[in-house]
Amino acid sequence: MKAIVIKNSKITQEPAYITELYPLLYKNKKWARFFDDNRVQAVLTFGFYRKILEDMLEDIGTNSSVLQVGCTFGNQIEKTAEKIGKYGEYTVIDVVKSEIERVKSKVHGQKINLEIQDARKPLSRKYDTVLCYMLLHELPIASREKVINNVLDSVRDGGRAIFVDYNQPTDWNLLRFILKPFNRLFFPFTESLWKTPIKNYAKKSTHFAWYKKTYGSGMYQKVVAVRRTPDEKKPAVKQSFY
Ligand SMILES: C[S@@+](CC[C@H](N)C(=O)[O-])C[C@H]1O[C@@H](n2cnc3c(N)ncnc32)[C@H](O)[C@@H]1O
Repeated sequence: MKAIVIKNSKITQEPAYITELYPLLYKNKKWARFFDDNRVQAVLTFGFYRKILEDMLEDIGTNSSVLQVGCTFGNQIEKTAEKIGKYGEYTVIDVVKSEIERVKSKVHGQKINLEIQDARKPLSRKYDTVLCYMLLHELPIASREKVINNVLDSVRDGGRAIFVDYNQPTDWNLLRFILKPFNRLFFPFTESLWKTPIKNYAKKSTHFAWYKKTYGSGMYQKVVAVRRTPDEKKPAVKQSFY
């Protein structure tokens, strides 16, 4: 197996939302280790961690090229690398160097490119799949819009962007009474993601076919945007006799 490499990294400045709002998550090694435990992730997601991850993996092709924006906790990255396989290509970018180093230190023997990059800046090439896993709720609206559009721009014709994130719980989901104050305290941008469909941030939304699925009585969403192939690139269709 190929060793993990850090290449194509760009000089980035850590965004204020990370240093000001989420220092415990991304700047504190002890807490990061705690959140990285799959059991902790299972509890924090009310038992939906595995289901959501397995469902997302169904949308990723073995041997395909995949870009992921942002490192994650739990074994999401390892499972995704496993699905892509050794003949595919998997790149994970993150704006925080210590997050890249954290992933580098725990992922052994899997073929993953780790790069320091800010996804608010245009991404350099196109991929079969671009993944945005539990990132959007942490972003202020202006940054969220930039990231969503950069993600969509780096999807090749016929390829897809996958967004997995929080969603507005249904009216009969009583957990919303806990989630609302919790989010307001710790993840202040989540509620805006509840209210605005991801599709609405896309400048070229008609270039994609959009599919949405929710989990846990509306608490989580998976949105898949499949880039339509332009007519001139579609294979010629034989004229029908009839
Ligand atoms: C992908 S989210 C995932 C965290 C979530 N709590 C989970 O389920 O694991 C967080 C990651 O995204 C990174 N990130 C935030 N803003 C970014 C940006 N503009 N460009 C690239 N990575 C970014 C953060 O540094 C962090 O490592």
